[in-house]
Amino acid sequence: PHLREDNLSEETKTLISSLPWNKDFIGNLYKYKGCWYYPNTLQGVLNFEKGFKPQETDIILASFPKSGTTWLKALTIALFERLKNSNSSSDDDLHPLQSDNPHGIVPFFEFNLYLKSSTPDLTKFSSPRVFSTHMPFHTLRLTLKDSPCKIVYVCRNVKDVFVSLWYFRCAHLEKEVDMKSLFESLCEGVGSFGPFWEHVLSYWRGSLEDPKQILFMRYEEMKSEPSAQVKRLAEFLGCPFTEEEEEDGSVDKIVELCSLRNLSGMEVNNSGKTFNTVPYFTFFRKGEVGDFKNHLTPEMENKIDMIIEEKYKGSGLKF
Ligand code: A3P
Repeated sequence: PHLREDNLSEETKTLISSLPWNKDFIGNLYKYKGCWYYPNTLQGVLNFEKGFKPQETDIILASFPKSGTTWLKALTIALFERLKNSNSSSDDDLHPLQSDNPHGIVPFFEFNLYLKSSTPDLTKFSSPRVFSTHMPFHTLRLTLKDSPCKIVYVCRNVKDVFVSLWYFRCAHLEKEVDMKSLFESLCEGVGSFGPFWEHVLSYWRGSLEDPKQILFMRYEEMKSEPSAQVKRLAEFLGCPFTEEEEEDGSVDKIVELCSLRNLSGMEVNNSGKTFNTVPYFTFFRKGEVGDFKNHLTPEMENKIDMIIEEKYKGSGLKF
């Protein structure tokens, strides 16, 4: 559905006709404010820009697709849920992560909330409202203006993002997608929410400018030192672990609750589907660092490494 053009407003159709466009094996892409979108997603972005009114306490979880979005959502949900659970509810109550997939609990602005309207009903969200997006920071910040709301960005090694995206596309389209052409689009920067490096750099620079507003996290660090990263996330979100919690193993409980093994085994994640009919189970695969070694040729590795090195040069961002 995010590829359809029949949902577009007349205003968007006019805008689209003036935008640079391209095509990948899925459909048309339009470049808006430096970022490529499929038509319906662009409509969602435009609706968001028109209608979203940030609140000071809002939290936005941002990422390039396949960088660890689902995991970051689960951790954030679990961190806030523990505050509610400390003195009230009984053990029989289902944890939100057992009743819904993280994407059902933390919706995307452009795919869900603002897909069809610039004035969605957001009254069901209580403070702090937690939303998510794949928009780059240069676009997001225009709408947030001077709002002090918090943004967490999760970044992942481009080669693992690529492999994850390839598997996701194959699962989504139910056919084997040509890996070479997906790779070429990635290298050219053309693809949904691309260029990848502009995306990462927009949040990286934003986090250097204002570390209180943007927390820059890395999938690889979340894998290698999950407890430390979960504590870092909790502190940034304003709900740090107490000494007592640290002693009673609360950090590890959250890490375990949100582990790929645990989440992917839950009934809810094996039956449901997202907004655009993507089955929830496709968000969980291997969750490893370096899976690209099983898929990329040395030439492919070299090519993308050189591009990223060149693009990140001088930014202070290591890859
Ligand atoms: P792989 O395809 O490499 O396994 P996103 O959530 O941004 O769509 O990213 C999906 C990637 O994150 C997939 O990577 C998926 O397996 C991994 N993932 C999903 N849930 C995870 C979790 N709880 N812990 C670690 N990785 C997770």
